[in-house]
Amino acid sequence: MKTVFVLNGPNLNLLGTREPAVYGAQTLADVQQLCAQACARHGLALRFHQSNHEGALLDWLHEAGGLHAGGQLAGVVLNAGAYTHTSVALLDAIKGTGVPLIELHISNVHARESFRHHSYISPVARAVVCGLGVAGYGLAIDAIAQW
Ligand code: DQA
Repeated sequence: MKTVFVLNGPNLNLLGTREPAVYGAQTLADVQQLCAQACARHGLALRFHQSNHEGALLDWLHEAGGLHAGGQLAGVVLNAGAYTHTSVALLDAIKGTGVPLIELHISNVHARESFRHHSYISPVARAVVCGLGVAGYGLAIDAIAQW
């Protein structure tokens, strides 16, 4: 059974109470449940994580890279939050591990402030899902299941 990593960056632990007009009312626990259901539908195992620390995201990407090297990784869904717009380290980790990855944003970052329009991750992502709300997580897993 191959594994999907769903990685969430800073402030996503606040889902449900954080700017609900932008991010909706569902919590991170709801998102985890949605991801578990999507993985179960496709016979995939799920690793679901959130951290406010950039290094933790790097460590999980490296771990996913190890599974990828062993042919056991289905793919990675990464919502790096604000690190999307700042982190060369995430770009290097994705490049360095070669993990097949979907960049995800709950909101439509292109309809928001201009500093959210640039992503360090997009050039090394297989695809970008953005603006579909938390439903995007399930759709990203559906896409990974087709790879
Ligand atoms: C986000 C968009 C980012 O710009 C923001 O910093 C987030 C969440 C999203 O899911 O829409 O924390 O990645």
